[in-house]
Amino acid sequence: FISGKPEDSISLPKLRNTLIRLEDTIIFALIERAQFSVNDNVYKPGMYKYEQSNGFDGTFLEYFLSEVEKVHAKVRRYQSPDEYPFTGPLPEPIIPPLNYPQILKHNNINVNDKIMKFYLEDIVPSLCMPGDDQNYGSTATRDVECLQALSQRIHYGKFVAEAKFLDPKLQPKYIEYIKNRDVGAIEELLTDKLVEEALLKRLRRKALIYGQDIEENLNNLQTTKQLKINVDIVVELYEKCVIPLTKEVEIEYLLARLDE
Ligand code: TRP
Repeated sequence: FISGKPEDSISLPKLRNTLIRLEDTIIFALIERAQFSVNDNVYKPGMYKYEQSNGFDGTFLEYFLSEVEKVHAKVRRYQSPDEYPFTGPLPEPIIPPLNYPQILKHNNINVNDKIMKFYLEDIVPSLCMPGDDQNYGSTATRDVECLQALSQRIHYGKFVAEAKFLDPKLQPKYIEYIKNRDVGAIEELLTDKLVEEALLKRLRRKALIYGQDIEENLNNLQTTKQLKINVDIVVELYEKCVIPLTKEVEIEYLLARLDE
C-alpha cells in the first residue's frame, strides 16, 4: 500500500486495479469456504469454553476472529488505511509504525457489522452445503479470509470517494450536495451504471472460469458441469452487499469530508 508517491495512491486507474484484484481474492476465498458445510456450531453463541474466557460466551467464529485480529493488530495491520477490524479493543503494534501517505480525511467509518450480518445470513447458507462436517477450524479460517477480503474491498470506497471528490470538474457539485446533506444527489453523482454493469459481467465470467477445472481443450470451458461455486451467488453478493455497502462508505465519507 505504501509504495509509490502519495499522489499515485489515489489515481482512479490504480484504485480500479486494486478493486479488480480484490474480486479475485473474494472469489477464491468463497471457493475455499464452499468446500465445507454450513457448520452451524461455528455460529452459535456459548457452544464452547475458551481459555482465559472471562465470561466470553460468543460464537466460535467470534472467538477465532478476535484472536486472529489481536495478532494482526500486533503486526500493525490496522494501522494501514485500507484495513478495518471486526473486533476490539485490540493491542498496540509491537513493530514501529509505517509512514502512510495522508490521503484520507480523518474518519472512523467502519461497516464491518453489516458485512458480518450479510455474510452469515445470506452468503454462508447459500454458498455451503447444509449440514455439519465437523471442520470447524477450517470453516472459521475460511470465514475470516472471506470477511477480511470483503471488508478491504468495501472500505476501499473511502479512497474511491476521495478520488472522485478531487476531480476538479465535480468538486463544486460535491461540495454543494454535501452542504445540503443531499444524500440522493451525492449517490447519483457517485454512481456510474455502466461501470456497475461491466463489473457484474466481469465477475460472472471470472467466477465461471475460476470455479472449474481447466481442461487441456479450452473449448470445454463452457461445458463443464460441476462448478466449484455457484456463479449467481458471487454476482448476488456484489449486487446486494458489496456495491451498496461500498456506496454507503463513499457517502458517509463524503458527508464528513468538509468537517473540521
Ligand atoms: N502492509 C502493512 C505492514 O506490513 C500493514 C498490513 C496490511 C498488514 N495488511 C497486513 C500487516 C496484514 C500484517 C498483516 O505492516
